[in-house]
Amino acid sequence: MKKIIFFLLALIVLIACKTEENKMHFHDEEHHHSHYSSMSNVDAHKLIFPSRTPDRIIVNLTEDANHSFAVNWRTNQEIDTAYVQIAEETHGPDFLLDDNKQQFIANTEFIIVENTRDQEPLVKAAYHSAIINNLTPGTNYVYRVGNGNNSNDTWSEWFQIETPSLNQNKPFSFIYFGDAQNDVKSMWSRIIRKSYKMMPEVDFMLHAGDLINHSESDREWGEWFYAGSFIHATVPSIMTPGNHEYDKSVDRKKISALWRPQFTLPENGPLEELKETCYFLDYQNMKVISIDAQSFYNNEESANAQTKWLDSILAKNTKKWVTITMHYPIYSTKIGRDNKELREKLKPLIDKYNVDLVLQGHDHTYARGYASNQGLGKTIVQDAGTVYAVSVSGPKMYESQNQDWMVKRGEYVQLFQIITVDNDTINYNSYTAKGDVYDSFSLTKNKKGKKTLINNESEVSIRFKKDFVKK
Ligand SMILES: [Fe+2]
Repeated sequence: MKKIIFFLLALIVLIACKTEENKMHFHDEEHHHSHYSSMSNVDAHKLIFPSRTPDRIIVNLTEDANHSFAVNWRTNQEIDTAYVQIAEETHGPDFLLDDNKQQFIANTEFIIVENTRDQEPLVKAAYHSAIINNLTPGTNYVYRVGNGNNSNDTWSEWFQIETPSLNQNKPFSFIYFGDAQNDVKSMWSRIIRKSYKMMPEVDFMLHAGDLINHSESDREWGEWFYAGSFIHATVPSIMTPGNHEYDKSVDRKKISALWRPQFTLPENGPLEELKETCYFLDYQNMKVISIDAQSFYNNEESANAQTKWLDSILAKNTKKWVTITMHYPIYSTKIGRDNKELREKLKPLIDKYNVDLVLQGHDHTYARGYASNQGLGKTIVQDAGTVYAVSVSGPKMYESQNQDWMVKRGEYVQLFQIITVDNDTINYNSYTAKGDVYDSFSLTKNKKGKKTLINNESEVSIRFKKDFVKK
């Protein structure tokens, strides 16, 4: 009998400990990270859970940004039915009145995130997403995400968001980031935060690939969401995948298992496998196109399909401005990192349609220039063609060499670019982490489509000294 009582007591203690342990796993993002980082001996079989409260909330632009936006977030798997509530923004709390708000049910998928490469514990999560349609252009809304009952712990806060105007000529701005990739919480957070601080009215953010280092690492994705925090939920984003968003354990043939669950990007690309990686969208008077550069290299079919698709999209284009983003640059900043196949297939189309901006990453340096190299040394460039830029926002730094296409080149500096489209002029400013202007130009297009580029003075020198050594 004593043995049975002892056994029962032991069982109760064990269950109590387990419950306590589980409770500790229902934590917010901050604890989530310290949980990972405090583990000296990571048990890959250990399970961790997000909390019931939504985290990793992010808004993405849709193909029809005037009338809709997409929102994604994450919870634990207790939440199998989730909602978005939205209302037109009011001066006070009256948007909360039932008559003013609408509720949408989300798509929910249960995912177990596995990252054996880094021996991270399994993460059991529910990913929720919704596309909110039938919105009025040029309108301020508030929205929140949650699980439907009214207790505050299961809803996010209300976030502000604005739909773009139907007035094609109303100025708008976006921020372009090169690779964040490494030490994202520690070292990239100040870049996205500085950019937001300098331009809180920014309309969207564009990430040119390699947002993180290991595609399947939940911890690294957690850092990326942490770094952007509420900015991700307030300023819509678009992103193109880099090589690091492709799973290295399968020779980078497969996009991260988290890419599609955690983002909702347009599905208007040419192949099933390119959904949410190769796509286009229209934002007022600009068409933005994402080319999936890693997939382009992975197989001939994808390369040919994307090339043909790009031709057809550009042939039909009616927008004044065209921006293409892709991770691998058409012109690299470093000799030996050339992307010849990409250039041979895509450059003829970029030229044929006189694309305006090509925004890229991958090289962990900065450069901006033209294929024709006609702008070198000039302040005003007539008949300017396509502007190519390579940038880096994270702390990983490579070296580069002067090349014919470059007007400006730089190394050892973390940057972000604020690009303002004002009817027939694009103003492009590249800023350092400190907020100084590093590179600046304006591009004006006349009615016949002829472009004039003006190179502006910048506040800091063309090249930083090699005084940064990564430890
Ligand atoms: Fe890369």
